[in-house]
Order: sequence, then C-alpha cells, then structure tokens
Amino acid sequence: MSSSIPDERTLVLIKPDAVRRGLVGEIISRFERKGLRIDAMVARTMDVALADEHYAEHVERPFYPPLKTFMTSGPLVAMVLSGDQVIEVVRGLIGATDGRKAAAGTIRGDLSLSNRENLVHASDSTDSAKRELALWFPELS
Ligand code: TYD
Ligand code: MG
Repeated sequence: MSSSIPDERTLVLIKPDAVRRGLVGEIISRFERKGLRIDAMVARTMDVALADEHYAEHVERPFYPPLKTFMTSGPLVAMVLSGDQVIEVVRGLIGATDGRKAAAGTIRGDLSLSNRENLVHASDSTDSAKRELALWFPELS
C-alpha cells in the first residue's frame, strides 16, 4: 500500500474449453489464492474481428484458423488482474503453452492435455498487456 509504483495489470481470458468443462471457478480460485486482485470481469463470446485483433501476432501462422474457430466457439471469461509483477506471476501460474508439457502445479499442467485448448490466455509482456487491456477493456484505459 505504501509503494509509489502502482501494481501492474494483465489481461486474462478463461477460454471456451474451461467454460465448457466447468473449470472457471477452479481457475479464478487459483488467481485469488495467489493474492491477485480482480479489477474487472465479463463473460462474452469473441467474434472473428476481435480474434484477429487479439491474436494479431499469430494470424499468418498455420495454427491460427483452428485456433480462431476454437476461441470463437462459445463464451469465455475476460478479466483484468492486478498485483505485484502480475504479468510474470500469471504466466507462471498458467504454465507452458502445451498442456502436455506444462509443469505439474500450473493450470495448464494440471488441467489441460492440449496445445490449443489450453484453458487460459494471459498477456506475456508489458507491451502486450497494454495493447490487450485496451482491446478488451477500453473503459479502463
Ligand atoms: P502463444 O502465444 O504461442 O502461446 P501462449 O498462449 O502460451 O501465449 O499461442 C497462442 C495460442 O495459440 C496458444 O495458447 C494456443 C494456440 N497455439 C496452437 O493452437 N498451436 C500452436 O502450435 C501454438 C504455438 C499455439
Ligand atoms: Mg501468447
């Protein structure tokens, strides 16, 4: 509370596979137990235009068409988390991209067996957090 540097913020998406599997509570609980704060949260379904913007760095990759189909396949939960070094902390909590290779103890390592349906998205740098927060929660910037 006495810090003069405000806590970071990051964008987290609890993906459609997590919603379908009933894992939203489990995943949010892990963030809460870590001590992170939820500053905003909404359930919505991504449309194709938002998917192309959100994944701008990946639109030309061969895995993008099936990724887009998956990410637009149903509701997801978008949230803004804040806390000390939250960007790096959340990336650590979610684990490596491929659920088969992610370490046990991480969200993906414990709960996903897929390189695509891997439950959670989180911003990976201060620049991507800034860009993604503006895209998903423009009212906060
Ligand atoms: P990426 O940004 O590399 O991973 P992360 O989500 O860990 O930041 O990729 C974005 C998403 O694209 C990833 O969560 C799942 C999907 N993806 C695939 O479907 N196949 C792949 O080979 C890769 C690398 C990613
Ligand atoms: Mg990424």
